[in-house]
Amino acid sequence: MLPDLSYPATAGDWRARARRRLPRFLFDYLDGGAGAEQTLAASVRDFAAIRLRQRVLVDVGAVDTRAQLAGQDCAMPLALGPIGLAGMMARRGEAQAVRAASSAGAPFTLSTVGICALDEVCAAAPAGSPPPWFQLYMLRDRSAVRALLDKAWQLGCRTLVFTVDLPATGQRLRDVRNGLAHSGARAAALRATQVLARPGWVWDVALRGKPLTFGCLTEQVPGGRDLNAFKAWVDAQFDPTVTWSDIAWLRQHWRGRLLLKGILDAQDARAAVDAGADGIVVSNHGGRQLDGVPSTIAALPAIAAAVGGQTEVLLDGGVRSGTDVFKALALGARGVLIGRAWIWALAGGGEAGLRELLATWQREFTLAMMLTGTTRVADIGAAQLEPGPA
Ligand code: FNR
Repeated sequence: MLPDLSYPATAGDWRARARRRLPRFLFDYLDGGAGAEQTLAASVRDFAAIRLRQRVLVDVGAVDTRAQLAGQDCAMPLALGPIGLAGMMARRGEAQAVRAASSAGAPFTLSTVGICALDEVCAAAPAGSPPPWFQLYMLRDRSAVRALLDKAWQLGCRTLVFTVDLPATGQRLRDVRNGLAHSGARAAALRATQVLARPGWVWDVALRGKPLTFGCLTEQVPGGRDLNAFKAWVDAQFDPTVTWSDIAWLRQHWRGRLLLKGILDAQDARAAVDAGADGIVVSNHGGRQLDGVPSTIAALPAIAAAVGGQTEVLLDGGVRSGTDVFKALALGARGVLIGRAWIWALAGGGEAGLRELLATWQREFTLAMMLTGTTRVADIGAAQLEPGPA
């Protein structure tokens, strides 16, 4: 077969490359959602339905795309959201991603269940770039949580993204089919056939990318040698009893900025403000938790109306282009986090692939500003939406 010499231009193009590179169970893990994936489909569809208002003959010779998210200067109002196991998708994936993100002026968020440890990610970031954001899942062992927070603080992290929409992992049917929830010979044989079909991944990630463990949790899981041991520990540690009173506890132990990720309801958004959060991320975990909840872009206007004046409202879910970033701002978000788009680009093309994706989105976002006659990010709002039914 002739090599593919085409240039990836969209998140979808990077997705196609990721699919060719990754063993099937890994591609499905990052690509899939919960249940029949209706919420996941709506996330993308609802962005596509938004109509922007084209304006002409405005001086757009000096468009400024810069913004501040969680007090940090960004090239555009976009940060990389937390993706667990990113280091399974590309060799030392989180280290590659933080380099690409930092050089594009985008904050990078490290997941509690990332492959690389926070130290490794901080060391990989270019000198002088701001420290990454750290994402926390609440663990039953609160002393382990405190140790994670202390470590993050010592390493200079000042923004904590606390994920509140995962009292238990959603029912992701692709993972069930691929035997991720199963142990034993049959599941091992199924995954082995998928791994053997991707020798490039075996060489690049499985062999040269070791150790493949949850880097942030190596002190918490002493003696844990492989991913299965870590996964078993984390599964037993997820705490479904967390309530708003734990936010007060977190506030006591975290002096930096606190963003609550996974808010989809205006009442919860108000409670987050009352609990002392510095911001919220309107999120349904990329459609990976409860199939049937609304897309985030559909939920955003009511939430922004309820708390947008009091707190920083970010959004993730279904953002697939720089134009989508603009649409999220037009509907009331201060900025976005991206998930699948960045991990597809990293899996498909490594650090260089992710740099290309972010550069493309920067151009798209700039063009959306120019063609709607907007020169400052702070001016993006309902005025840039086509009035009337979408
Ligand atoms: C996630 N997400 C996630 N969120 C989180 O708080 N901690 C995590 O470890 C993970 N891990 C993770 C893995 C994978 C493979 C995906 C796709 C997602 C959710 C993520 O941060 C974000 O909310 C969604 O990905 C946003 O939707 P899009 O951009 O993927 O459509």
